[in-house]
Amino acid sequence: MAPASPEQFKDAVRQAWDESASGWNHQTPAIHNWLAAPTAALLGAARIGLGMRVLDVAAGAGDQTLAIAHRVGEGGRVLATDISPAILQFASENAHEAGLAQVQTRVCDAEDLALDETGFDAAVCRLGLMLCPNPLGALRQMHRVLRPGGHAAVLVFSEPQRNPCLGILMTTACRHAGLGPRDPFTPGGLLSLGKPGLLEDYFQQAGFTGVATERIYAPFQLPSARDYLHFVRTSASPIVQILNHLNPQAREAAWEDMEEQLEVFQLPDGGWEGPNELLLVHGMQPVG
Ligand SMILES: C[S@@+](CC[C@H](N)C(=O)[O-])C[C@H]1O[C@@H](n2cnc3c(N)ncnc32)[C@H](O)[C@@H]1O
Repeated sequence: MAPASPEQFKDAVRQAWDESASGWNHQTPAIHNWLAAPTAALLGAARIGLGMRVLDVAAGAGDQTLAIAHRVGEGGRVLATDISPAILQFASENAHEAGLAQVQTRVCDAEDLALDETGFDAAVCRLGLMLCPNPLGALRQMHRVLRPGGHAAVLVFSEPQRNPCLGILMTTACRHAGLGPRDPFTPGGLLSLGKPGLLEDYFQQAGFTGVATERIYAPFQLPSARDYLHFVRTSASPIVQILNHLNPQAREAAWEDMEEQLEVFQLPDGGWEGPNELLLVHGMQPVG
């Protein structure tokens, strides 16, 4: 059953990511390869450079945090935030192991950044904003903590037809769980910010200027559909939450059904490539 309030929704999200933190962290090399080009574009759009102070929202295990830390250098600073203490602990450890003392972490909700500190040069969010039930609230918070002339940049999934694997997963999980089809644009869902123009509109409402969107094709390249499903199963995907209500046998039947359908993306010469498109939206906190 769907949680009743935004707070209950966020409690469920926090718990899901706490539980899957280790799995997500373990997948860092695959995530890094998948998102290398989009991450470079994200950091470029936020104009991140040497010596800057950067806020990383919904940082997860910190793959993009480390990329930001390298860009700002020893004289800069990155504050990585996330709603899940367990996943943020991995970001902290990963930064420590990489010798990046310029990374700090703070557990907080993107919609309610409990930060006294303002004047950040840039704020970014990679694949986290769509999980917020009130993304406009989160953008207002990013806007609040930026300095005039500071840049915000966000990566989210684009519309359902350009991300067919996510559609296959959701439709199949709902069918096996006896649930009706879900509106992909329901707030807090993986594809919720993929509606054309929606996120740009939120950026403008939050007070950003020079708002622009770029589409980035970022296919998921793995040895097989089974590897993709392994990735999904070890993350806090809503698919996992839906199937958790089934008995183990019924759950396995659902995963097998998904695998069969996802094999359509097997490449003739070997390997598997799941089509996937992201939106990079960015804007600036007005000067003066
Ligand atoms: C798909 S992961 C992305 C993590 C990381 N940015 C990356 O790209 O590897 C989504 C992250 O969003 C976080 N998250 C979800 N809702 C949030 C909220 N309301 N406030 C802050 N973080 C949130 C989750 O805990 C999780 O770490």
